[in-house]
Amino acid sequence: MSRNADRTTVRTLDNASEDLQQMADDVRAGLLSDPKDLSPWPKYFYDAEGSELFEEITVLPEYYQTRTELSILRERAPEIVALTRCQELIELGSGSASKTRTLLDAMTVEQGRSVQDPARYVPFDVSESTLQGSAERLVEEYPALEIQGYVGDFDHSLERLLARPRSVNGFRRLVVFLGGTIGNFTPEKRREFLGRLRSGLEEGDHLLVGVDLVEDPRVLEAAYDDAAGVTARFNKNLLSVLNRKLGGEFEPDLFDHRATYNPEESRVEMWLDSKVAQRVPVVALDLEVPFEPGEGMKTEISTKFTHESVAEAFDEAGLQLLGLYTDEENLFGLALGEPLSDTGPYSPR
Ligand code: AVJ
Repeated sequence: MSRNADRTTVRTLDNASEDLQQMADDVRAGLLSDPKDLSPWPKYFYDAEGSELFEEITVLPEYYQTRTELSILRERAPEIVALTRCQELIELGSGSASKTRTLLDAMTVEQGRSVQDPARYVPFDVSESTLQGSAERLVEEYPALEIQGYVGDFDHSLERLLARPRSVNGFRRLVVFLGGTIGNFTPEKRREFLGRLRSGLEEGDHLLVGVDLVEDPRVLEAAYDDAAGVTARFNKNLLSVLNRKLGGEFEPDLFDHRATYNPEESRVEMWLDSKVAQRVPVVALDLEVPFEPGEGMKTEISTKFTHESVAEAFDEAGLQLLGLYTDEENLFGLALGEPLSDTGPYSPR
C-alpha cells in the first residue's frame, strides 16, 4: 500500500473549473448572441450529473464512438507505442481512463518495463475525485507504472502541464486526447488548442487525437438522439447547470432536444428548442432571456473529420500527421502526429 502511494501523486494546477465569474461572462455572451449559442463552452455540460449521463451515452447502441475507439486502440496500441517509443503518457481529459489501459499495457508489459524502470502516466482532468480514483486503481494494476495526476482545465494549465521537467534528456512523451473531444471545439478554439499543444512538444514527442469521422448523416444524428432519450437528458442537464450555478429559472420540460448534421460545417449540432414563448430569468446575470416559440439555442457542436481535414488541422498547428488509424467501417479515427520541425523535414532519432 505505502509502496503504491509512493508511485502516485495528484496535484492541482488550477481551479478554473470553479471560476464562476468566467462562467457568467461566457453564458452571458452565449445567451445574448443570435442565435443563442452556448456551444463554444462544452465544459459546462460536465457537472456530476452531466458526467454520469455522458458515461451512460458511451454504452448506448447508437453511440458507436466509444466502443469503436476502444477497438482501434486494442488493435493498434502496441504499434503506436513501438513507433513513438514513449516513456511518458500524458492524457488530456483522462476521465475514467478506461481506454488508456490498452496503451499502458503496451508501455509496461510489452516494453518489458519493471519496478526499477517504470513508465509514467500523467492523467489530467478537471475532476479531482475522478483522478484520485483512477490513479488508485491503476497503480495497483501496474507495478511498473508511476502516476502523476494533475487537476486542471486545459484552457488554463496546458502550458504548465507540458513544461514539467523531463526526468532524463530525450524523455519521450506521447500526449493523448481521446474520445473525439476535439470535435467539440470551434475551429478557432481547435486551432488555438493544437497550436498550444504543439508549442509544448519537443522533437521525439508525439500526439494521438481521437476524431469522429464523416459518415451517413442518419448514423450521426442517431448517435446524438438515441431512442432511450439519454442524450436529450444530457442536453437538458445544461439548463440545470445554469439554474444551479447562475440562478437560472430554465424549465427543462419547456425545451425540445434536437440533433442535426450540418454538412457545410461537417458537424452534428445539438440544440434546445423552446416549445413556447417564454422569458427566463437568470438572476446572477441580471438578465431575463426571451424565447420565441420554436426558437433554438445551440448547445454543442461535434465536428466530424476526414483524413484530409485532420491532416489540414494538424498542418495548421505545425504538426505532421503520421497516420490515421481507423476501424474497418471508417467510423472513427486515431490521428498520430509529431511536431513539424521549423528547419525542414525532421527525422526521428
Ligand atoms: C465528449 C466529445 C466525446 O461530441 O460525441 C456525446 C459529447 N455529446 N453526446 C461527442 C457528446 C452528446 C461527445 N464527446
